Amino acid sequence: MMSTIRSAVFPVAGRGTRFLPATKASPKEMLPIVDKPLIQYAVEEALSAGVQKLIFVTGSSKRAIEDHFDTDTELERVLDESGKQDLLSVVRDIVPAGVDCIYIRQGTPLGLGHAVLCARSAVGNEPFLVHLADDLIYSENACLKQMKDHFGRYGCSVLGVETVPEDQTGSYGIVAVEDDGDGVQRVTRIVEKPEPQEAPSNLAVVGRYVLTPGIFDKLASTGRGAGNEIQLTDAIARLISDEPVHVLPFEGIRYDCGSKLGYLQATVEYGLRHADLGDSFRAYLKNLDS
Ligand code: UTP
Repeated sequence: MMSTIRSAVFPVAGRGTRFLPATKASPKEMLPIVDKPLIQYAVEEALSAGVQKLIFVTGSSKRAIEDHFDTDTELERVLDESGKQDLLSVVRDIVPAGVDCIYIRQGTPLGLGHAVLCARSAVGNEPFLVHLADDLIYSENACLKQMKDHFGRYGCSVLGVETVPEDQTGSYGIVAVEDDGDGVQRVTRIVEKPEPQEAPSNLAVVGRYVLTPGIFDKLASTGRGAGNEIQLTDAIARLISDEPVHVLPFEGIRYDCGSKLGYLQATVEYGLRHADLGDSFRAYLKNLDS
């Protein structure tokens, strides 16, 4: 098996019901945090991990994502003619030369597992990354880069994890782990959205994965699970009997931008960190307090 990771898969075919009506005609992944859509943060993180193939699994109302990563000659001409060179490079450099964007349609949103399976032929028989754009992770060292480096050392699948409050296990895939030596931990059990009393721990899988191609056969034979969807978690639960799957408690701050509160928190904190806006935004927030 090849050990370099060349592809990142972005499942963006969910319906985003928690953000209706904003997501009626426009994808959740195009929601901006300050001035950049979530999916662009996602792509930048994957590019930091060195991938050359960006595979988007899309559904209905997702055309805006394709347009966002496509060249807009007319816009570029207007910016060029009006001397806005800074903005011109902002729109031109979204996807660097030599990186391919591939769009695959998931006809019906049958679940995250099914979305990942849709990417099978585009990925091929290689390890790959999966990134869920609504989990936005702020880190000096891009989360997917940390995960790719872990894969480089151990050569097995890796799940990005963090501890969550016990009453929130029902929103995540939850893992039980054991020591695998060398300070790394391996998954012994994984359950999708368990109630707190059934949860094996409060260690939750967030939207970052390195997966070996062995996952595809498991997905192909996984039936519907929690929420009547084909769950990636259920396929990983079967993968762990064939090969080791590690967890990585990555460094970084995660914002659950699939929820309104998490989205607002990300907006405020990215606003405060923003080079041009940070100071005036902080002053504005201070005034609100009084
Ligand atoms: P979510 O569970 O967040 O669902 O999916 P959702 O549909 O996006 O949002 P809500 O809950 O209705 O508000 C987790 C990830 O899996 C993708 C979603 O796009 C999201 O990135 N997904 C989910 C698919 O690509 N296809 C599916 O069939 C289901």
